[in-house]
Amino acid sequence: MRLFIDTGSVREVEEIAAWGVLSGATTNPSLLAKEEGDPGDAIKRICEIVNGPVSAEVTSRDPREMVREGRALRTLHEHIVVKVPFSPAGLTATRELVADGHPVNMTLVFSANQALLAAAAGATYISCFMGRLDDISVDSAAVLGEIVDALRPGGTTSQVLAASLRNPMHVVTAATIGCEVSTIPYKVFQGMLPHPLTTAGIERFEADWQQDPRFAEWLGGLVSGQPVR
Ligand code: G3P
Repeated sequence: MRLFIDTGSVREVEEIAAWGVLSGATTNPSLLAKEEGDPGDAIKRICEIVNGPVSAEVTSRDPREMVREGRALRTLHEHIVVKVPFSPAGLTATRELVADGHPVNMTLVFSANQALLAAAAGATYISCFMGRLDDISVDSAAVLGEIVDALRPGGTTSQVLAASLRNPMHVVTAATIGCEVSTIPYKVFQGMLPHPLTTAGIERFEADWQQDPRFAEWLGGLVSGQPVR
């Protein structure tokens, strides 16, 4: 499963990209509204940093206007994927944008029926929200599993993108279900890092080499090109 970051923050993208784990990013109007500065500049900078697909969303509800906005967004950077909310108008716009060669991320998908329609319209990515399903006491893992199972037999090229991920377990669930992509908020990335045994293991390595510094001295010599015999 490829990992995208779900954010409008250039700083957050820079920090997580430095780990070498990012394949793309997703933004939406709510995330961009939290940030200062010009949204276009932020989207372009994010495109440069991740060097992969970056979803930027249309705001109109009219299909023709969605297509105009999508084409305009695509002029920002070659990595832009046009994000279109699910609706009949969104399906119409998706079909037209895809026919013109523009990749589309159909968002706000909450059921297998919606996902089948998004795939039939030609969406490149289908964003299925987990957290918002859990919020209304619907089992998000069951819905996501049904979406993945429903799309596979049709041989669709659409990729299932797990979104609205609120905790690290959502990421693992999306991966084991077979989603091609997860888009992960900064805080959830941070939550994926720690394990007490990792921390304890690093402390033990450090205590051991400090007690007997021969290995560290040898490695330092190797690094500096002046090996210690
Ligand atoms: O990618 C969609 C995501 O930003 C929505 O997350 O937590 O607002 O449901 P959330």
